[in-house]
Amino acid sequence: MEFEGRVALVTGGASGIGLAVAKRLASDGAAVVVADRDQEGALRAVHELESAGGKAAAVAMDVTDPASAESAVRFAVETFGRLDLAVNNAGISTPPLPTGETPVDAWRRVIDINLSGVFYSMRAELPVLVENGGGAIVNMASILGTNGFAGAAGYVAAKHGVVGLTKTAALEYADRNVRINAVGPGFIDTPLLKEADAEHRALLVALHPAGRLGTAEEVAEVVAFLLSDRASFVQGSYHLVDGGYAAR
Ligand SMILES: NC(=O)c1ccc[n+]([C@@H]2O[C@H](COP(=O)([O-])OP(=O)(O)OC[C@H]3O[C@@H](n4cnc5c(N)ncnc54)[C@H](O)[C@@H]3O)[C@@H](O)[C@H]2O)c1
Repeated sequence: MEFEGRVALVTGGASGIGLAVAKRLASDGAAVVVADRDQEGALRAVHELESAGGKAAAVAMDVTDPASAESAVRFAVETFGRLDLAVNNAGISTPPLPTGETPVDAWRRVIDINLSGVFYSMRAELPVLVENGGGAIVNMASILGTNGFAGAAGYVAAKHGVVGLTKTAALEYADRNVRINAVGPGFIDTPLLKEADAEHRALLVALHPAGRLGTAEEVAEVVAFLLSDRASFVQGSYHLVDGGYAAR
């Protein structure tokens, strides 16, 4: 129960990696706020967490709206009395298109959710964590926060941005006892990959020396470590969970 007494906010907590993180933190004693634009999904997640004996609450949040980010943080403090941990995880994938054929709207949307969403979330969380006397944040990047990927200009640019944002905020807040790190999953078997047909999935699997896609639980394990006191000297870094993808 290493998170007993701690309060965590997980954006995009209704599905996939966010849901696995929410479950992992709740099972170790954290009170978890599941924040998602999918309100029904967030309520379902909370039901699941509570049925397993955890403490949780759902809040509707659109990470592209700075006011919504602020009200989700306020909700966490009003509901559970404080905020200690945040996982800025909400994100989308994009249809594969070369850079020169990418519609401007598609670019703006993925930058808005996958990059600005992390900024708006941290902007709302940081003052509260500082006021608390400290805390920890994990931002969800991707293996594409360090590698390029043909057909995914906006997604790759956003995830590289998340890594830079993480390092910069970590420098700014290290002396105020807030640790900020990023995680870079390889391709993970979640609803995000629902558009991938069998052939595309086989191509993705082949990119991982482990010979399979990762699971959301495998990512949640690293997130939980980074949020925990066991990672007390881990600051401003980017941790791959990628079955060897980047080692090639
Ligand atoms: N699945 C993968 O292969 C993979 C690999 C690397 C990184 N990631 C990253 O992990 C994160 C989670 O992805 P996942 O695979 O669990 O996807 P998912 O689709 O299962 O879950 C994403 C969640 O984010 C929510 N969301 C989307 N836009 C939002 C918004 N504007 N405001 C609030 N919530 C919003 C969705 O409703 C959903 O619940 C994303 O940032 C994704 O880029 C995923």
